[in-house]
Amino acid sequence: MRVLGIETSCDETAASVVALDDAGHVRILSNIVLSQIEEHAAFGGVVPEIAARAHVEALDGLIEAALADADTRLADIDAVAATAGPGLVGGLIVGLMTAKAIASAAGKRLLAINHLEGHALTPRLTDGLSFPYLLLLVSGGHTQIVLVRGVGDYQRWATTIDDALGEAFDKTAKMLGLPYPGGPNVEKAAQDGDAGRFAFPRPMKGEARPDFSFSGLKTAVRQAATAIAPLGEQDVADVCASFQAAVTDALADRVGRALVRFNTEFPDVAAPALVVAGGVAANQTVREALLALCAEHGFGFVAPPLALCTDNAAMIAWAGIERLRADLAGEDGMDFVPRSRWPLDNVSAPVVGAGRRGAKA
Ligand code: KG4
Ligand code: ZN
Repeated sequence: MRVLGIETSCDETAASVVALDDAGHVRILSNIVLSQIEEHAAFGGVVPEIAARAHVEALDGLIEAALADADTRLADIDAVAATAGPGLVGGLIVGLMTAKAIASAAGKRLLAINHLEGHALTPRLTDGLSFPYLLLLVSGGHTQIVLVRGVGDYQRWATTIDDALGEAFDKTAKMLGLPYPGGPNVEKAAQDGDAGRFAFPRPMKGEARPDFSFSGLKTAVRQAATAIAPLGEQDVADVCASFQAAVTDALADRVGRALVRFNTEFPDVAAPALVVAGGVAANQTVREALLALCAEHGFGFVAPPLALCTDNAAMIAWAGIERLRADLAGEDGMDFVPRSRWPLDNVSAPVVGAGRRGAKA
């Protein structure tokens, strides 16, 4: 089975070919990701219109290159899998329409894939993990803990009630005058900082409700920064270190609860595992805290290589393969309309936003 994957939901344009042989061995034949960071840097964040245009300009060439890298002709693939949501709708339209055109011209099946499902199934591509397991998704757009029970079978255990964790990093960076994208720059500045200088709140810590919250922390950072303005280099480092300590502490508290819940609900799973995905998983302080937490609760800690942890098209092609082999691909995706909001779990109640387009978180 060989699937061409396409990803355009945010600020990465990506194409990949993934193959599964009869013995069940998977190979990523190509995986090309073009980041738009430079296009957006001047604006301090992703500008949807610029993103959509950049996808249009790059996508066809990228797909051609991904096929060439994989030594694959369109005739050789079984299906085209494209991210159809959630994400910025302009980018989704570009990716899904391109996929529809290719599928139509080549007479192939089209699979409309949920971007979050791509993240959720990645540890099966990289580590052959078996169900069930817990996923912590921490990116610029999402902060969720998801129980992954099977292909198409997900239960959201926790989500943010306001900002995503990556967003909190990015906004903190912006407030402190650090360049975009904020996360890596906050981490870098924090290396020389005193994490004990500012006692920032640990939102939701100890609360029975399982969710995350980061907007109060953002306000606390702003107040602290304003109080000591103008900020010197050491001040910025200290704010970053204190902020990072607070989010890590809050995250560990929330994830710890989920690990306990998993062990209670699945006492028979011999080797429980926590998987991380999303850009914030690149943060060493966050990683170390999660690793320690997993050791404490008897969990394996699975962190796919960063290139497959952040947005990419191999995970979309892989989700397509998983759906095809589980016979869950459903109807052909030709009629699928891109969805800016598309929760992975249709059962858990929306926490933020509702209405026609569905839950935001
Ligand atoms: O998964 P990702 O590449 O894209 C999506 O949001 O889908 O995640 C990007 C987010 C940004 O908010 C970025 O600031 C954050 O991940 N990030 C980090 C680090 N590297 C990236 N946050 C904290 N520490 C990092 N080292
Ligand atoms: Zn993502």
